[in-house]
Amino acid sequence: MTDWSQIETWDRSYYLHNTQAKSEHQFAAVDRQDGNYIVLADGTRLLDFQSQLISDSLGHRNPGVYDEIRRAMDRYGHVFFGMANEYRARAAKLVIEDILGSSSPHWAGRMRVLASGTEAVENAITMARLFTGRQVVLTQSHSFHGLTVGATMLRGYRNNVTPADSPDAVRDVPGFPTAGYIPVPAPERQDWSGNDILPSLAATEAMIRAVGPENIAAIITEPMLGAGGLPAHKDYLPGIFELSRKYGFLWIDDEVLCGFGRLGEWFGYQLSPGIHPDIMAVGKSINGSSMPVGAVIASTEISEFIEGARWWSGSTWDGHPIVCASIVGALETMLRENLLSQVRSRGAYLKDKLDDLASRHPCVGHVGGHGLFYAVDMVKGDGTPIIAEDRWTGFTGDLSQHPNNIVAGECAKRGIFLGGFVPNTIKVGPPFTITEEEIDTALAAFDEALTVVDNTYC
Ligand SMILES: Cc1ncc(COP(=O)(O)O)c(C=O)c1O
Repeated sequence: MTDWSQIETWDRSYYLHNTQAKSEHQFAAVDRQDGNYIVLADGTRLLDFQSQLISDSLGHRNPGVYDEIRRAMDRYGHVFFGMANEYRARAAKLVIEDILGSSSPHWAGRMRVLASGTEAVENAITMARLFTGRQVVLTQSHSFHGLTVGATMLRGYRNNVTPADSPDAVRDVPGFPTAGYIPVPAPERQDWSGNDILPSLAATEAMIRAVGPENIAAIITEPMLGAGGLPAHKDYLPGIFELSRKYGFLWIDDEVLCGFGRLGEWFGYQLSPGIHPDIMAVGKSINGSSMPVGAVIASTEISEFIEGARWWSGSTWDGHPIVCASIVGALETMLRENLLSQVRSRGAYLKDKLDDLASRHPCVGHVGGHGLFYAVDMVKGDGTPIIAEDRWTGFTGDLSQHPNNIVAGECAKRGIFLGGFVPNTIKVGPPFTITEEEIDTALAAFDEALTVVDNTYC
């Protein structure tokens, strides 16, 4: 039996925690995870309706993934990148040939397996700079690409700190803006109804001209902003693709959160026919987040450039056999069980139910998304965001009255793990293995939580 009070003492004393100051830290310990459920140390069973960080897409400890990991562990420990292993080759073949091989136009050349989505982004940016010989990377407001010294400088949420003695202050990581990164506006929302070019695209084009396309290595975008919970208008990504072709720089598509099925296609960019990235960063759903993982996928042209050269790159963990086995297990499970079509059908069921909630709750301003990822934006009675800073938040002050935290608390009381990152937005992203009955259960709790927000703010 685990002695949870001892564990709490050690955790509070020695672990370096994320996002909460020690004075406000809540000890929410997980005892075990099964399928779509999390069991806490006190015995509480929660339906994981946001797949942890919109990451654990196949449910917890999916048998198809874990059986492959077990088989791999009977043969392999760690193999460094200078030697091949069976699973590295099988994982790359599955992605490049079986999943991307039939994409039209055909663009993907090679994949490298890494230890995190952040590393995938870092590799993508380095490759873009090496290939083009240029430095500047354009990056969207409200986007999230990771929190390392390089990736954190992409515009959006940047690893900043609110010191314990000044809860209304925010100390940014010194050095921003870093030479080489220039923010462009976030996409317009789903409900843009103008006939002209999207305002965000027009502003991005003006920025490209001001910076000078000859200085721009790439633009990096998310298909649907994950941390920011922001779906783009259907014309946005095609517009970004066209700008990259018109001005001759690369398009890096960060699919770490949306890739491998989350939006109902293998990759989010495939919601827009005829476009394709030059480099793609992936992670999370590539192995259902069963192991720390990321991967970078390069076009045939960039792959040939890298492969024809000696690229002095690499980490101890590149192509790790057990991680690659987890990818093989996850992707073969997705293909065998046709989980992509399940994401589409369960997603349509979920979207109908969310639209119904929106029609009944004054605090729901907007529901947008695809597949099994929806952002629900909450507003005041007059339709304006409840927390005025909205996606520009610095996470300062009293966070307990932020509507995302109210919803998270009310849902947890009712056995549902569901919340959001930015203050006014709930990110609904259940695992691909969710059932219709579980969707009903989760949305009944969400319904009641939204009534609390209605009563508080509308
Ligand atoms: C779009 C996007 N890019 C990159 C990352 C960073 O990935 P990781 O947390 O695996 O380092 C994330 C993580 O949430 C993400 O959502």
